[in-house]
Amino acid sequence: MQRIFSGIQPSGVPTLGNYLGAMRNWVTLQDGHECIYCVVDLHAITTWQDPKLLAGQTREMAASLLACGIDPKRHLLFAQSSVAAHARLAWIFNCVARLGWLNRMTQFKDKAGKDREAVSTGLYVYPNLMAADIHAYHATRVPVGDDQKQHLELANDIGQKFNHDFGVEYFPMIEPVIMGVAARVMSLRDGSKKMSKSDPSDQSRINLTDDADTIATKVKRAKTDAFPLPSEVDGLAERPEARNLVGIYAALSDTDLASVLGEFGGKGFVVFKDALAELLVNKLTPIASETRRWLADPGSVDAILRDGAGRAAAIADPIVAEAERLVGFLQV
Ligand code: TYM
Repeated sequence: MQRIFSGIQPSGVPTLGNYLGAMRNWVTLQDGHECIYCVVDLHAITTWQDPKLLAGQTREMAASLLACGIDPKRHLLFAQSSVAAHARLAWIFNCVARLGWLNRMTQFKDKAGKDREAVSTGLYVYPNLMAADIHAYHATRVPVGDDQKQHLELANDIGQKFNHDFGVEYFPMIEPVIMGVAARVMSLRDGSKKMSKSDPSDQSRINLTDDADTIATKVKRAKTDAFPLPSEVDGLAERPEARNLVGIYAALSDTDLASVLGEFGGKGFVVFKDALAELLVNKLTPIASETRRWLADPGSVDAILRDGAGRAAAIADPIVAEAERLVGFLQV
């Protein structure tokens, strides 16, 4: 059985983008794989996180994942900071990865923006820690949204360079698993920007905790253009906002763009947005109430994370110990 690893940052409430690009697929992949899912709090602190909120956000992210259907009995769910192997291997990878490789990372350029000199060095080496997350388990499949593709290519470059430098075949190749028609969900305010839990505007995203009224209002206000929906997929090419909403509808109803346009082609956005809001409410509000149910008993979520961390360490510790031996650290 192939081993899967993936992670999500507890840097805010999960969005519809996280759900369609990652969380939902993590649930599906539980059949037929051994899955290791991680709330990546070490990654979250690459940008400022209020220490009074971080622990709660980590628990809430875990509760959302449980509410989506992650099964912590058959698979692993834990917080990254509670398994030291991640940080140990990340340090080795900081010494394997090349500056030039990190300079090419588009996500760093986007996140750092004009203020490059002022961002944390952690943000810069963020992809090295991601590579460590995956390689610490010898995982071979990584379900992510489209935005993470470049980081996974880098994780392969790092694994291969380690193998080459130390003359071994130790870290396997990783295969990105990017699923569905909504692998890149865009902001509701700007069809050229990714929907993100850290966007300052709450109107730009649907949160998995939004109630029915909030969802309906956000969909109603979502930016669109002045034309009816096209009947053919080609007609969406120059219309990013329309493409985004049709993609969301298709993903949530487990179909494709063509069948959604078959139903709504020629109709205006008022009709389409009503249907989309209804679909979103039907799919997301049960997850929100299940998340609340988990959070009513925070001890039960913490117990799951503690158990997951113990089982994760049992897998990662020997793998990382062997990497340390290969590097030449004294074995005492
Ligand atoms: P994060 O928390 O930013 O995103 C978690 C997952 O959600 C996906 N995603 C999206 N998919 C579609 N449309 C969007 N608008 C959207 N926004 C987010 C992301 O692609 C991701 O799959 N760096 C990772 C976390 C991580 C990780 C790892 C992933 C840390 N270590 C190891 C895989 C393997 C991240 O972006 O988290």
